[in-house]
Amino acid sequence: MKITPYQVEGSIDYEKICSEFGIKQITPELKEKIKQMTNADSHFLRRGIFFAQRDLKWCLEEYEKGNKFFLYTGCGPSGPIHLGHLGTWRFAKWLQDVFDVEMWFQFTDDEKFLFKNLEYDQVQHWLRENMLDVIALGFDPKKTHFLINTAHASIIYPEAIKVAKKITTSTVKGAFGFTDSNNIGSIFYTAMQTTPVFLPNVLRNENRPCLVPLGIDQDPHFRISRDVVEKLGFHKPAIIHAKMMTPLTGPEGKMSSSDAQKAILTTDDPATVKKKINKYAFSGGQDTLEKHRELGGNPDIDTAYQWLRYFEEDDAVLEDLAAKYRCGELLSGELKQKVIDAINSFLAKHQEARKEAESKLQEFIFHPGKL
Ligand code: TRP
Repeated sequence: MKITPYQVEGSIDYEKICSEFGIKQITPELKEKIKQMTNADSHFLRRGIFFAQRDLKWCLEEYEKGNKFFLYTGCGPSGPIHLGHLGTWRFAKWLQDVFDVEMWFQFTDDEKFLFKNLEYDQVQHWLRENMLDVIALGFDPKKTHFLINTAHASIIYPEAIKVAKKITTSTVKGAFGFTDSNNIGSIFYTAMQTTPVFLPNVLRNENRPCLVPLGIDQDPHFRISRDVVEKLGFHKPAIIHAKMMTPLTGPEGKMSSSDAQKAILTTDDPATVKKKINKYAFSGGQDTLEKHRELGGNPDIDTAYQWLRYFEEDDAVLEDLAAKYRCGELLSGELKQKVIDAINSFLAKHQEARKEAESKLQEFIFHPGKL
């Protein structure tokens, strides 16, 4: 098992990661607190898709005292958006709604240029495409600010150098697995990803908490910079971690847009979704119909079932499918059809909203007049 922002390999042991990274699982009490504070409930929390945290309790207590947090997350524009990205961002949008808070959304075009085999112009293309997907999820433009690392360099860079000065090359190498042959931009980059944790406070002369919803592979950036943020006079960020959505082809690794077989893209049409799932989705069912009826399937390793946990919000429906699958009443192909329908109905709405997004772009991109 390997997990850094730049590599996710093998089947992920989340308990082990929590102890390695020094993070805590979200307790039932903490879930209950969120429910009480917001009068709302999210299947992402209920089902442990978002499962771990740093300083979340503190962040909620500050909120109760009237010191509202802002949200911060991001997107690295290196290719098309897939369902794995969407899980994290849909939950982030839910948090924005139920807590009525601001979202700062960072687009790391610098990062993807430095780390991927892509030309600058290609990254700019994906930047624009990816922004449309984020807008399509329904974030509130008045409360959502897009920060683009190259375009907003004059705002971000003066703060990023303050972060960079307090992080050594050896710390970066250890956290991200870099060697002496990494380019020098990649060493600096993590400072750019930390800066939005406190940048809104600099711009407004405030000191509000920051809550970062992220896929757990991104945790190393903040693990090495939490103390730095504090030394600069701001609160350490609170973090809420998601598990990685399993790739189409089975429970190992993570979904990636550079491997189209492993992912469903937001721009896939209904026939493509159907074809990919029917052809590639890893099945927890038995090899033959006879054996399946006799022994039943295993939803825990079945991609179709695992993905339904993201899209079917009704617990009773989901549990019923699991039970029928386990006892062999429901077949693998039937389960696949359920997830195909669920994803296609989600994507139909998403693609509609994405068309409208173009005209809203300027409302989302940060400029000082927005504050
Ligand atoms: N590095 C992230 C990626 O590759 C993008 C990102 C920037 C991010 N800032 C973030 C992700 C904050 C989570 C939280 O996709």
